[in-house]
Amino acid sequence: MADKKVTLEIKRQASPDDPAVWETFELDWRPGMNVITAIMDIAANPVTADGHPTTPVTYDCNCLEEICGSCAMRINGKARMACSALLDNLDQPIRLEPLSKFPLVRDLQVDRSVLFENLKAVKAWIPIDGTYDLGSGPRVFPQQQEVNYPLSNCISCTCCMEVCPQFNIDTGFVGAATIAQVKLFNNHPTGSVLKEERLRALAGDGGIQECGFAQNCVEVCPKQIPLTSAISDVSRDVILQKAKDFLRS
Ligand code: SF4
Ligand code: SF4
Ligand code: FES
Repeated sequence: MADKKVTLEIKRQASPDDPAVWETFELDWRPGMNVITAIMDIAANPVTADGHPTTPVTYDCNCLEEICGSCAMRINGKARMACSALLDNLDQPIRLEPLSKFPLVRDLQVDRSVLFENLKAVKAWIPIDGTYDLGSGPRVFPQQQEVNYPLSNCISCTCCMEVCPQFNIDTGFVGAATIAQVKLFNNHPTGSVLKEERLRALAGDGGIQECGFAQNCVEVCPKQIPLTSAISDVSRDVILQKAKDFLRS
């Protein structure tokens, strides 16, 4: 058991302007290892499998329990969370690459701020003003809570955007995560104050009509968020909003 090894091939790129190179690492296996613990082992001894000293791999992670959403990367070609990817369940050599749809920072780290800009564009928040005591919140019936709770589990990992054929620079598509958050905040009794503004934000270029309904997003989501039903519901609401705005004009 002590001799058991794991092999990782990691795509390295010192900066967006540097060429990408692949480095191979051979590590001692331990029970329960995941991709992040393997990258941490490399940081403790950054030497490639053929004995060349190198630098520790740059990557994002925080919670190590699939909650913060920061450790998304492509593992054996699939977008997923590195902290919950157990090495024993992966084919070797394990290939690690950064997400491909976001600007590279370095190695496995990318800049996913586009998601946060998209969430700002649709006002994905509950508008409450001030820090004074607002009293008890409005009632949300259990049936509504059951719809909203899964949507609230989004960890902003961007895996759904990485696999979406429509999420690219040409379409400017906001992606499934943002649309699901529109449904969540529109469903909230206080959040619904901004419902019309959110729907209008999704009515233009890069909005919900860019979705081709390929459903890659729902398959890859690590939190099993019902993205396709959210997209259908919000799409219907956007069409109704457009009709209302037309009749008002
Ligand atoms: S259904 Fe397809 S096109 Fe629409 S957001 Fe999901 S992956 Fe993208
Ligand atoms: S919807 Fe799912 S895949 Fe997309 S960002 Fe949220 S948790 Fe990640
Ligand atoms: S480290 Fe937080 S989701 Fe993986």
